[in-house]
Amino acid sequence: MRFILAKDATDVSQRAYDFIRKSILQNPSLILGLATGSTPLELYKLMISDHKRGNLSYKKVKTINLDEYVGLPEGHPQSYRYFMDNNLFNHIDIDKNNTKVPKGNAINLDKECEEYSSFVSTNRPDIQILGIGSNGHIAFNEPGTSFNSSTHIVKLKDSTIKDNARFFENESEVPQQAITMGIKDIMSAKMIILLATGSSKAEALYRAIKGPITEDCPASILQTHPNTVILGDHTSSFWIRVNREPE
Ligand code: GLP
Repeated sequence: MRFILAKDATDVSQRAYDFIRKSILQNPSLILGLATGSTPLELYKLMISDHKRGNLSYKKVKTINLDEYVGLPEGHPQSYRYFMDNNLFNHIDIDKNNTKVPKGNAINLDKECEEYSSFVSTNRPDIQILGIGSNGHIAFNEPGTSFNSSTHIVKLKDSTIKDNARFFENESEVPQQAITMGIKDIMSAKMIILLATGSSKAEALYRAIKGPITEDCPASILQTHPNTVILGDHTSSFWIRVNREPE
């Protein structure tokens, strides 16, 4: 695991984009694992603006997303499919048939989970972008999730529902369940880039990087991944910078 202290959120995004850009130039058919949430938004803006300047094509790139809420139709403004279409896919030259997001409204969710994991194992992401939840979750793998998990349905923790309520009219509208790639799926990526910005991530980031490897902090498993880069800004990296445990 490599930790890079970036200047600020813009620098975090720029550095992540530099990895992606270089990798797509080397391999135009790259498989890119993508994340939702507010943290990667600036990265997606950089991808769009550089694409519009004619510098990078996504024609052959394939993408695989981490997770989706259960029960929201694909066109729902808070569904992760809608998020990805509107914040990235609609603005670059990617073939939408090459973009995969779990179907949270599948009639048979168990089958969807099984098929998603099997898809990931035959399409191992070359680069997986990750954010981190304030409780250390990655994708929707909440604390306590087995490190051996494949794609599954999860009941969201109250803290996650509260964190994500800002995107909904009110907290009661946040779905209680999600479908998420499991930790084993995520760890199968050849390279992982985790982005963390803002003080609300400081404790989780410390535990992920310096804490014990424990299912209580799902992101701590990344310490065992052979090619993970963590990009943190000054606020998210507070406890790492002062080199002591969060109080
Ligand atoms: C959600 C997503 C995660 C994301 C996390 C943090 O729970 N499922 O993939 O990393 O939120 O989101 P944000 O970047 O908005 O803080």
